[in-house]
Amino acid sequence: VLRPATRDDLPRLREVVARANDAPYDLGAVLEEKCFGRGYFGEPRARVWDDGGALRGVIVTCGRFIRVIAVDRAFRRRGIGSELLASANGNIVFAEPANYLTPGIAEADIGTVRFFRKKGFIATRWTYNMHVPLGALPPASAPRADDASRPRVLQFIEREFGRIWHYEATHARSLVYVEHEGEVAGFAAAEANNRGLGWFGPTGVARALRGRGFGRQLLLASLADLRAMGFARAVIPWTDALDFYRKSCGAEVAGRFVTMQLE
Ligand SMILES: CC(C)(COP(=O)(O)OP(=O)(O)OC[C@H]1O[C@@H](n2cnc3c(N)ncnc32)[C@H](O)[C@@H]1OP(=O)(O)O)[C@@H](O)C(=O)NCCC(=O)NCCS
Repeated sequence: VLRPATRDDLPRLREVVARANDAPYDLGAVLEEKCFGRGYFGEPRARVWDDGGALRGVIVTCGRFIRVIAVDRAFRRRGIGSELLASANGNIVFAEPANYLTPGIAEADIGTVRFFRKKGFIATRWTYNMHVPLGALPPASAPRADDASRPRVLQFIEREFGRIWHYEATHARSLVYVEHEGEVAGFAAAEANNRGLGWFGPTGVARALRGRGFGRQLLLASLADLRAMGFARAVIPWTDALDFYRKSCGAEVAGRFVTMQLE
């Protein structure tokens, strides 16, 4: 039967996703954030497929977004995914701004792409994740937002980049910024979404001040923070700025992701 998930399900859910996750990141490590963490679009709804106490699959939606859907590999092609999907009203697959495991379906995950195609979803957008080893990066520093500067930095983010990035940056474990003539000119956040997996971003420099090296400085300072937290590698998610990241820190494309949507 399909029923709402509770936090008591987390240990068993972790076992299910170990057998169900085909995305290239450890869903189990961020399971609580994905199943129960608020999103920009409100509280999520998590449901499980419960087979007499044994969990076989899970779906999490937030607003119009399907944040997570996963079925135990041993129980696929039996209609469980279909029932999970039918119980939800999400019509955009993954790529939920500010709370996503992956920015769309990993293109290598052909089964999931086919499932959604069968359900009438079509591909609408493509984007990339990049990876960068943190072992040997050039040194860089930038001021860290503290109690005094944080409100100004967050205000800057909202004004220049909108409310979703503001929301995401609010959760960041690391938030650095740069100033130009006494005003905040740019920022970089890390360990905001997918906390525990070493994810970078969001980041941005004021339009009029681009091309002066601020972006690179912020990136390197933020990656240094991730390294200091103990990460050996950072993920630079949901980006098309491939050349910028290649040049600035030696990051390489790790995968392409497709957003599928029901018209
Ligand atoms: C996508 C997914 C949820 C589908 O679950 P499922 O229970 O197997 O889906 P269903 O049995 O309801 O499939 C319905 C139809 O979709 C299509 N389909 C599903 N999987 C398919 C595949 N691998 N190849 C081709 N078609 C497929 C088929 O048409 C199927 O009908 P059929 O079995 O009669 O041919 C499952 O493949 C999955 O868990 N993928 C991994 C997702 C993941 O990594 N999640 C973690 C990140 S959020």
